Amino acid sequence: MKLGVLVSGRGSNLQALIDGIESGKLPCSIDIVISDREKAYALERCKRHKIPYLVIKRKDFSTQEAFEEEIIKALSGVDLVVLAGFMRILSEHFIKAFPMKIINIHPSLTPAFLGKSAQRQALEYGSRITGCTVHFVTEELDSGPVIVQACVPVLPDDTEETLSERILSYEHRLLPQAVRWISEGRVKVMGRKVVVHGANY
Ligand code: GRF
Repeated sequence: MKLGVLVSGRGSNLQALIDGIESGKLPCSIDIVISDREKAYALERCKRHKIPYLVIKRKDFSTQEAFEEEIIKALSGVDLVVLAGFMRILSEHFIKAFPMKIINIHPSLTPAFLGKSAQRQALEYGSRITGCTVHFVTEELDSGPVIVQACVPVLPDDTEETLSERILSYEHRLLPQAVRWISEGRVKVMGRKVVVHGANY
């Protein structure tokens, strides 16, 4: 299965996919990485692993639609679009171009703590448990059908940093797992529910 990965920053989830592919556990290839920021560290990872990448910046386009069209063009031929820390909200136009073929990783147990700074939101709320979610992308922000989630405890001394770190280690397991399930044809979306055949949770 051919992946297109959208990033904006550090790219540690991109790295988890690269590691899965290079170790033979993930039957996929990353055909293109697209970043909306030229300084994203994710691009260093692409160079190191010889993965094709493009920088497509919003400010170079007069409209969101023209920006998204350029991304859609660059993704032609990919089977699955993975949002791995892509910090922009995509419009209905983009989402309709890849129906149920876009997934996102979000650092909370959705539907709690949507949008930015989900880890800080969990701390401020006083949650004892939070986590991370891989979900299909629909027009509702961070709220599409859930493929897999992991629970992560919030510890009494946690800061946003320590909690984010702990959640991230789960993200790095969850994202390649969800991509593998999809690539094996085991994931069926039935309305809001996702059924994963033969999943060993
Ligand atoms: C992760 O916490 C992910 O859940 C969120 O953005 C962050 C990206 O981190 N959507 P990285 O760039 O993959 O290291």
